[in-house]
Amino acid sequence: MIKIGIAGAAGKMGSTIASLCSKENDFKITLLTEMQGHKTIGTEIYGCKITDNLKDNVNNIDVYIDFTTPQSTLDSLKILKTAKKPAVIGTTGFKDNELIEIKNIAFEIPIVLSSNYSIGINVILKLLKDAVKIIKDDYDIDIVESHHRMKKDAPSGTAITLAKAILEEKKLDFDKNVIYARQGRDNERPRDQIGIFAVRGGGVIGEHTIIMASTGDKIEIKHTAFSRETFAAGAIKAARFIINQKPGLYSMKEVLGI
Ligand SMILES: NC(=O)c1ccc[n+]([C@@H]2O[C@H](COP(=O)([O-])OP(=O)(O)OC[C@H]3O[C@@H](n4cnc5c(N)ncnc54)[C@H](O)[C@@H]3O)[C@@H](O)[C@H]2O)c1
Repeated sequence: MIKIGIAGAAGKMGSTIASLCSKENDFKITLLTEMQGHKTIGTEIYGCKITDNLKDNVNNIDVYIDFTTPQSTLDSLKILKTAKKPAVIGTTGFKDNELIEIKNIAFEIPIVLSSNYSIGINVILKLLKDAVKIIKDDYDIDIVESHHRMKKDAPSGTAITLAKAILEEKKLDFDKNVIYARQGRDNERPRDQIGIFAVRGGGVIGEHTIIMASTGDKIEIKHTAFSRETFAAGAIKAARFIINQKPGLYSMKEVLGI
């Protein structure tokens, strides 16, 4: 039985993960956390009381799944590092220096970090590398993503991950080659530019389209998440994987063996 801790238990992702975990035979939910002062602290779901105290309860878990906020995740990782407990991180919006902090913590504990736990996006990441190799510099590439109106970070972590995969293949630099808007009179498109555009509205769970256009044709690779369960299921897969790993930073690529 895997003793699982879930952060942000009242959040959109945390509650979905807890619900899925409660139906899995090999998991027992032994810790649910929420932000200090949250109205759900002390309430019980799935036989577990929600607490704001990870530190005093960390020894009661085998693995911690965290989809919260960058600051909350970094605070939790420090506690997990001391307790030598593995983590599955789904939070997005980390700055570069925060990503370095996570990499350093991963020298001490095993961590899966992924901006998108769906299988579909991870398949696209693999396909994209081949596509970019084949189209070479003949096609202009832009990424358009849509999410619900409550999403805090923009553009999405997934769009950034997709862009990084393209840039790596094309040997381009994120800061030099990525733009987030086009506006004004003098806006001819440089050939090595990648645009990432964030659309926000309503309840969209998550859509990402990679558009590759030449002068002769256009390819669109699109992923649509139908529900948060697709991310939750991937995070649960990652939790099963990470409990048996050595310290290090892993991605869904390793979890899925692709
Ligand atoms: N990687 C993926 O596949 C994936 C998929 C969906 C969302 N996300 C990301 O996951 C994060 C959460 O998304 P959401 O839609 O569930 O947001 P949300 O706002 O619905 O949930 C976040 C929850 O975390 C709680 N929280 C904040 N500080 C906390 C703390 N210190 N301890 C415990 N809980 C704390 C909040 O109270 C809230 O309930 C975002 O960064 C989002 O972009 C990632």
